[in-house]
Amino acid sequence: MKGKDFLSITDLEPDEVSQMVRKASEMKIDGVPRLLEGKSVALIFEKPSLRTRVSFEVGVQQMGGNCIYLSQADIGLGVREPVVDVARVLDRLVDVIVARVFSHESLETLAEETTIPVINALSDLAHPCQALGDLLTMSEAKGHLEGLRVAYVGDGNNIASSLALSCASVGTDFVIAAPGNYHVPSVAWEEARRRAFEKESLLEWVEDPKRAVDGADVVYTDVWISMGDEREADERRKVFSKFQVTEDLMGLADDQAVFMHDMPAHRGEEVSENMLDHHSSVVFAQAENRLHAQNAIMTELLSG
Ligand code: NVA
Repeated sequence: MKGKDFLSITDLEPDEVSQMVRKASEMKIDGVPRLLEGKSVALIFEKPSLRTRVSFEVGVQQMGGNCIYLSQADIGLGVREPVVDVARVLDRLVDVIVARVFSHESLETLAEETTIPVINALSDLAHPCQALGDLLTMSEAKGHLEGLRVAYVGDGNNIASSLALSCASVGTDFVIAAPGNYHVPSVAWEEARRRAFEKESLLEWVEDPKRAVDGADVVYTDVWISMGDEREADERRKVFSKFQVTEDLMGLADDQAVFMHDMPAHRGEEVSENMLDHHSSVVFAQAENRLHAQNAIMTELLSG
């Protein structure tokens, strides 16, 4: 880990990404060290959450610690008081901050103004905990990561950005099918390109979902309307209407391909009605693996 915080996949060197996936896999089997005994973790959530909140609360409990859940209504991050004041107060009272925020800048301020680890539990730009859990799921499903072809269909959002970076870090080919104006932001894409070049893997953007999915080992999608994008809902539904992952589209992937979705899923929008129950779907194993990936991250940050 480059620093005391985990805000992005880029906080890990490419080889550290594979190491973190291995560590998560080991912890899934052997359990976690009780590094949080007598310690407290603040969970700041500006947006709703099921998987992230529950997996962090369970993980902290497994490590012997205590969680304090702080919703936007409780603390009004940046509204009731500035992010820097929240950071300086929590720095004196708790041992780790886990934060889900609208603006990635809030995370950066929390990280800069504290001495304790800050973990990104989703921002507008990145969801690195999800991406590490996803690599664990892929390696369990396929037995390896290097040389796999991942096709991501849909919005080039926080999920797509972290997934592109994490695939590029471990030598997994990554192809995104996204409409022109919804491609992954250039900062993340350029860094993913550097990492893919180093690992001699493929990183490609196409506009045709069929081209992306053709022969893929993993087909992945996420919502079209992320938390915070609600005002663009009608426009987005129109733009993405040809980007739904259906059984037919899945049929173009490799015979042994798996289907992934970080959830929550909107049946009838980005996925057809039965995709989550399709024989290729690993979405619930994927949800569980958030726990193991985050335990590995917390262990690394606390022992580092
Ligand atoms: N892209 C989605 C991910 C939800 C886990 C969002 O930001 O709302």
